[in-house]
Amino acid sequence: MLVVEDSPLYSAEFFATGDPWSYLAQLRREAPVSLHRRADGYEFYALTKHADVHAAYVDHTRLSSAYGTMVDGSYLPRKDSASGRMLIVADQPEHAAIKKPVKAGGFNRTMLARIGETVRRNIRTALDGLAVGDRVDFSRVVAPALPMGVLEVLFGIGATDAGHLLERTRTMIGYRDAAYVGGSSLDSLVDAQLEVLDFIEELIDDRIASGADDDMIGMLAQLVASGAMSRDVALLNGLNVAVGGNETTPHTASLVVTTIDAERDQWRGVVDGRVGADVATQEFLRWTSTNSYVQRLSVADFEVGGQVIPEGSFVTLWNMSANRDEDVFERPDEFVVDRRDNKQIAFGAGMHRCIGAPVATLEVQTFVEELAEWDRAFEVVAPPRRLYSNFMLGLTELQVEVVKAKALVA
Ligand code: HEM
Repeated sequence: MLVVEDSPLYSAEFFATGDPWSYLAQLRREAPVSLHRRADGYEFYALTKHADVHAAYVDHTRLSSAYGTMVDGSYLPRKDSASGRMLIVADQPEHAAIKKPVKAGGFNRTMLARIGETVRRNIRTALDGLAVGDRVDFSRVVAPALPMGVLEVLFGIGATDAGHLLERTRTMIGYRDAAYVGGSSLDSLVDAQLEVLDFIEELIDDRIASGADDDMIGMLAQLVASGAMSRDVALLNGLNVAVGGNETTPHTASLVVTTIDAERDQWRGVVDGRVGADVATQEFLRWTSTNSYVQRLSVADFEVGGQVIPEGSFVTLWNMSANRDEDVFERPDEFVVDRRDNKQIAFGAGMHRCIGAPVATLEVQTFVEELAEWDRAFEVVAPPRRLYSNFMLGLTELQVEVVKAKALVA
């Protein structure tokens, strides 16, 4: 098996300035299962093929999420501090027990409909505020409209609080990026996390006092009040939903804009109605692969891709690589706006498959629909600045000029 010392897969800088797509493509071709080491002894196996990534996602007996799903999220094989209490780091049976109420409270049809309306309203407001000739940083001026709509509905809060919550959760994921933090990056992470938890706790207390249960936080609060859920579990999963929802779709939206700018001919198909926004959205999700990988720990020997990964090893499942697998996608390195039978795996698979996938898909599709109907368009006017992270693929700066729609697709 290929062993890579001092691997670039650890390096946030490589993801911000290098070409991780090509590096992963080479691994996929030459060493689909490989071992990556860092000077301090941390090591993980990397799975790069769609079939292997999928097999790992659905093996809930040999692979555990309880030791952290992000490299360095939890160091050395010991459990994450939220292990067993927060969806993303819970194995069975705890996972199912938490997922049921969170799904019922936040991800039911009524909530989805309300989220759709709020996100559309926010996107329209952001787009309507822009005139031909304006130059703005899309990542700051428009992209936040997507997750803010979700926060407003799920957490039952106004736009100002949603904006604040968004900013703090950004620091938690982008804590290695100077665009989000001052001083010590680890201090910023801890401060941001405590602040978000305090904020959610206040919301839960409010809802317990009022008895309201018409949003996700309200439903969790009533479970706490009745003793059916511990306060810790409600807090940690409120945090999980906020982080999961905030630091993903704004990046996807920014990358949708750069993709449209680069693929104007294909975008014309969406504007003309020849390509459905739903079909285009699936390809945007494949192409952007916002969450690049997730991590597991093997709690038994795990055979994958003809290799045996020994018990006690960290294993990383590279979504971004699986989404470009030549065995699954024709012309994998091309953006194909009307790609049919799209087997993108951007949301993972198995029991941890993104609980927010319907929400995220709705957000991106709503954004695509609104952009297609807008009589203006964004033209990228400077090289975008990529997020300093190997975990989230996103942009921290995207300078665009607002032009007449025809100027982009004529
Ligand atoms: C394009 C946007 C998004 C992408 C690419 C994405 C990706 C993912 C992936 C790959 C996982 C699986 C993690 C694992 O297996 O360890 C996941 C889980 C999760 N996501 Fe998302 N996500 C997105 C949007 C959202 C949104 C909008 C929300 C909430 C509103 C959300 C909340 C969560 C939560 C709570 C989990 C944990 C689920 C569990 O462990 O059962 N995500 N997401």
